[in-house]
Amino acid sequence: MKRIKLPAHLAIIMDGNGRWARRRFRPRAYGHKMGVQNMFKVCTHAFRLGVRIVTVFALSTENLYRPKAEVEELFRLFRLYFSERKERMLEMNVKINVIGDITVFPEDIRAAILQMMEETKDRTEGLFNICLNYGARQEIVRAVNLAVSQGRYVDDASFSQLLQTGGIPDPDLIIRTGGELRLSNFLLYQSAYAELYFSYKMWPAFSKRDLEKAFENYSLRDRRFGKVREG
Ligand code: FPP
Repeated sequence: MKRIKLPAHLAIIMDGNGRWARRRFRPRAYGHKMGVQNMFKVCTHAFRLGVRIVTVFALSTENLYRPKAEVEELFRLFRLYFSERKERMLEMNVKINVIGDITVFPEDIRAAILQMMEETKDRTEGLFNICLNYGARQEIVRAVNLAVSQGRYVDDASFSQLLQTGGIPDPDLIIRTGGELRLSNFLLYQSAYAELYFSYKMWPAFSKRDLEKAFENYSLRDRRFGKVREG
């Protein structure tokens, strides 16, 4: 890969698992299974290249209303990789942080998540945020209610701290695979100045080389944050 400027914080909407599987005459569950494998491959590559923070959208609040069998399959994958095969997570060598409302999850999954976060909390090499049962609007409303309940007026900086991403710098680059050109309730407040990159590849087919191409493209962007460039 050419010498390029990397995003410090990369966020990914891993879309297209279901369609990728159906095109191969396989069940949607197979797409999710291959989607997780690809998550490990692509995110590990991002950290190896020097990205400090990676945030993935693994389950939206809306996804929970999918057919029961599909939700069960996603829960099975969470069980597998947060518990029985959690070494796959731990070997990424980064701090793992789960963002979203996990109170609706079965008790064993919740416990596995808390345990994994506890086990990796002192790691400083990188941060891997997994958004589970996450919705940006819900996150913003929750933060507003928090401020109101504390009788506080907030500004941008103090409001950011009340979000579930409080203390984490905003994403520099958001990649969405699967060909849809929208954010779908993902990091709406935090993405104010994020660069957006859309790929027509379905998530299980999005390769390490595709990631590098996204970084090359990001490198060419002129990020002015609403200001003008001097000189
Ligand atoms: C969107 O594809 C993807 C999801 C709803 C789930 C993504 C989850 C993973 C990759 C698993 C994460 C696992 C762990 C252990 C963190 P879609 O199926 O909605 O795609 P479609 O638009 O083709 O239907």
